[in-house]
Amino acid sequence: MKFLIINGPNMNLLGLREPGIYGKGTLADLEDFLRQAGETEGVELAFFQSNHEGALVDAIQAAYGEMDGIVINPAAYTHTSVAILDALKAVALPAVEVHMSKVDEREPFRQVSYAGMACVKTYMGLGFEGYRQAILYLKDYLAGKEAEA
Ligand code: DQA
Repeated sequence: MKFLIINGPNMNLLGLREPGIYGKGTLADLEDFLRQAGETEGVELAFFQSNHEGALVDAIQAAYGEMDGIVINPAAYTHTSVAILDALKAVALPAVEVHMSKVDEREPFRQVSYAGMACVKTYMGLGFEGYRQAILYLKDYLAGKEAEA
């Protein structure tokens, strides 16, 4: 199984950006943590981060036929991007939404998630662990689909 882990804008500044909310770990730390989890779970992972909406759409499109699932933290584009929602719907790969912070306890403008409308599950408020949970969920989800077939 191959999953694409996508991070949206400003996630490249993890460690620096608002450490009280997002913690002190960097994006490289997150990717190392997930690489280890992937090895433990026997899942292959690819990583993509961009600050640009179109680049995120391109990465989702490029996952079609290459990846079995997507774990996505669209960051601020969560709350604005119909393009990312449409891309997830277009490729129809199982996707899990992740937010490091407890988005549901933050500002009103963060209370809508467009990307989430195309995701089978959302994890929030768990920091790095949310991404690991998303990988485990996707693995089980796909195993369930295989058993059904
Ligand atoms: C975030 C939450 C978003 O509202 C915010 O814009 C981010 C990060 C999170 O991981 O908690 O950049 O997606």
